[in-house]
Amino acid sequence: MAEKSFKYVILGGGVAAGYAAREFAKQGVQPGELAIISKEAVAPYERPALSKAYLFPEGAARLPGFHVCVGSGGERLLPEWYKEKGIQLILSTEIVKADLPAKTLVSAAGETFKYQILIIATGSTVIRLTDFGVQGADAKNIFYLREIDDADKLVEAIKAKKNGKAVIVGGGYIGLELGAIMNINSFDVSMVFPEPWCMPRLFTSDIAAFYEDYYTNKGIKIIKGTVAVGFTVDSNGEVKEVKLKDGRVLEVDIVVVGVGGRPLTTLFKGQVEEEKGGIKTDAFFKTSVPDVYAVGDLATFPLKLYNELRRVEHVDHARKSAEQAVKAIKASEEGKSVDEYDYLPYFYSRSFDLAWQFYGDNVGDSVIFGDNNPKSPKAKFGSYWIKDGKVVGAFLEGGTAEENQAIAKVAKLQPSVQSLDALKSEGLSFACKI
Ligand code: FDA
Ligand code: NAD
Repeated sequence: MAEKSFKYVILGGGVAAGYAAREFAKQGVQPGELAIISKEAVAPYERPALSKAYLFPEGAARLPGFHVCVGSGGERLLPEWYKEKGIQLILSTEIVKADLPAKTLVSAAGETFKYQILIIATGSTVIRLTDFGVQGADAKNIFYLREIDDADKLVEAIKAKKNGKAVIVGGGYIGLELGAIMNINSFDVSMVFPEPWCMPRLFTSDIAAFYEDYYTNKGIKIIKGTVAVGFTVDSNGEVKEVKLKDGRVLEVDIVVVGVGGRPLTTLFKGQVEEEKGGIKTDAFFKTSVPDVYAVGDLATFPLKLYNELRRVEHVDHARKSAEQAVKAIKASEEGKSVDEYDYLPYFYSRSFDLAWQFYGDNVGDSVIFGDNNPKSPKAKFGSYWIKDGKVVGAFLEGGTAEENQAIAKVAKLQPSVQSLDALKSEGLSFACKI
């Protein structure tokens, strides 16, 4: 089979790939030099839409509406844009073998792709309940959400099981966003997760209490401290019941599972240095292999602000790491250099009428401030994290653009605080005056 050869190849066609392509175009990539190889059938898009507006019962977002780079307020890169720039979009093409020393990738269909410089942007995949051997976990109507095909299958099931019962397994990002979406779609929703409160990766118990009460007021049943251990399946192979470890059994029409992600590094095992479950990079996203870069969810990079290697599974970092890698590649071709990546972690989520943002690090002591009554018509509250006498992280629900910028500034500048009580009573005005 024919071999194709490119100066630059981006492996993966997700968020990072799209933002990398835009940066290559800004830097004057020549027609024919760059290819994006993706197993998805569509050009790079803003993945966060899949668990939000894509699933709305009315006025749902659809492609081409949310191709990159609209998520960060930029121009939308439609398939025609790549054509105009001479960037090859090689879609519906899964790479099954990577030979980094030989600079070669091989697809499932047997095509060979050669490159001079490779950017690995394969992102994450979902952890499946079948991975833990949960009985009946391969039944019909048990869904995961990572790619647009997954979202399309869920949309079909939502139509087919109108006004039915949904169980959401997992209390993280997917759990909270999908719990809300299924409720908005008129499903009777239960959420099940093992921890004492939702989103324990980020939320304190105080923050979680607000969202749990808000969801409960919407009619969502929250079942904590247990897990799904099995599913009952009918004669059509469709899921009918969820069996919980604590003995409870829930009737169900649709199950949505969000029990975490896993970086897709398998193709490169043994060929490149790994760290903390991802591919280890420097501050320019260069890996241990010459001419190979790794960006987005799967990069374990030096987080300068905390002097620590970290992996970040969020869209803002996917965008910025991709831009940094391309700038570094182009600069080094001209014998120049770029500044080290100096990232301030930024995460956000939206559900119902709620929207929060978080910046920095959620370590140390925490204080909560503001109106966190879930019944308030427009609740606005936040939290600061304080370590070694400095504010290192800040969270805000219901903030304006200016207020969100203010908490970002606090997390970046890390001002000192004398008293946690004073910080708590000053609340948001502490951030706004920095
Ligand atoms: P991404 O997953 O975007 O892209 C990877 C690409 O590689 C995919 O196109 C995949 O098909 C392809 N690929 C993988 N293996 C391949 C192979 N062997 N051959 C060819 N192609 C291959 N973050 C946030 O900050 N706010 C939010 O609201 C959300 N919301 C959200 C919703 C949902 C449903 C998900 C799944 C994730 C989010 N995120 C998020 C996380 C965010 O989307 C994520 O961090 C970025 O998409 C990561 O970008 P990457 O480009 O690294 O991977
Ligand atoms: P997550 O890590 O946010 O949450 C996983 C949750 O599942 C945790 O609460 C975990 O304890 C729980 N869990 C683990 N095992 C379980 C079990 N056996 N039964 C029930 N619950 C179990 O992961 P996610 O929500 O699946 O999200 C997947 C990926 O998508 C992540 O990378 C996430 O960052 C990304 N994402 C981000 C956003 C956002 O930033 N707004 C939105 C959606 C998805």
